[in-house]
Amino acid sequence: MPMTEKNHRDLWQAATEARSRAYAPYSRIRVGASLLTARGAVYTGANVENASYGLSLCAERAALAQAVAAEGPELRVQALAVVSDQPGPFAPCGACRQMLFEFGPQALVLFQGDAGPTEVPLSELFPHAFQLPR
Ligand code: THU
Repeated sequence: MPMTEKNHRDLWQAATEARSRAYAPYSRIRVGASLLTARGAVYTGANVENASYGLSLCAERAALAQAVAAEGPELRVQALAVVSDQPGPFAPCGACRQMLFEFGPQALVLFQGDAGPTEVPLSELFPHAFQLPR
């Protein structure tokens, strides 16, 4: 289903609202993510850091977990947006791209790019995703 202008606005806004709930006392980089499912629902997440730095959870994966908890294993992601509170580019990290691939190989990814708001299909952002051998 093609994304409407309202879908775009809602996703940016939901990610920005979610960002305000980030737990980021270590990096002080607050991140929010939102995703639109094939059913038309929007779920959000924020980054959750930990004193054991490596355990920190990205906003995108937090949003994915919310969506799976709500819609179950049939979840299909149409689009995902991520916003940080830092100036400059902030694209989803590699781990989040791989996780998104599982539920939305065709998803549209919205993020702050080098030249402002950017929208790229995951297939372009993350070609050759890992897949188990058949
Ligand atoms: N972070 C995200 O939430 N999403 C990303 O795609 C990259 C990084 C978070 C993790 C950590 O809390 C902070 O940003 C700095 O790396």
